[in-house]
Amino acid sequence: MVRAMVSAPSASNQQAWAFVVVRDPVRLHSVRSFAPGVIGEPSLLLVACLDHSRYSDSDGAHVRRQGKLCVAMAVENFLLAAHALGLGACPVSSFLPGPIRLLLNMPDHLELILLVAAGHPATKPNPSTRRDLDEVVRYDGYR
Ligand SMILES: Cc1cc2nc3c(=O)[nH]c(=O)nc-3n(C[C@H](O)[C@H](O)[C@H](O)COP(=O)(O)O)c2cc1C
Repeated sequence: MVRAMVSAPSASNQQAWAFVVVRDPVRLHSVRSFAPGVIGEPSLLLVACLDHSRYSDSDGAHVRRQGKLCVAMAVENFLLAAHALGLGACPVSSFLPGPIRLLLNMPDHLELILLVAAGHPATKPNPSTRRDLDEVVRYDGYR
């Protein structure tokens, strides 16, 4: 899963990301208590970060903005790999970055972007609905 994650594309191949895989049960419990968006008791929590130290002073705001896209693409690869292995995984944006940063001794140059809860699913969830393709996809432009 982490190999799939870091195989993701990134703008200019900058790979301005960093990840913490929290597996230790005590740490997991602590991190989870600052992440109300985590449902259930996952076996692990991935903390996906943007690594600002990968940028130089000459990198403008437009370059830095792409960093979050790259982290999101890496997270999507992690989710797909988990699914392919029969695991369940869910991205979580509802968390308190400050306390989690302290708990994990994270350096200042890492910006916490997303958590991912992963583990063996307790039940097989029903697929959630999606908007109709006709509504969201246009071929050859809008008319
Ligand atoms: C950026 C982002 C943040 C999310 N944050 C949470 C969250 O905090 N808690 C949660 O349970 N799900 C979270 N989700 C999962 C969505 O709720 C879920 O993907 C959506 O409801 C569709 O369900 P499905 O992925 O199971 O098809 C998040 C998804 C994204 C993309």
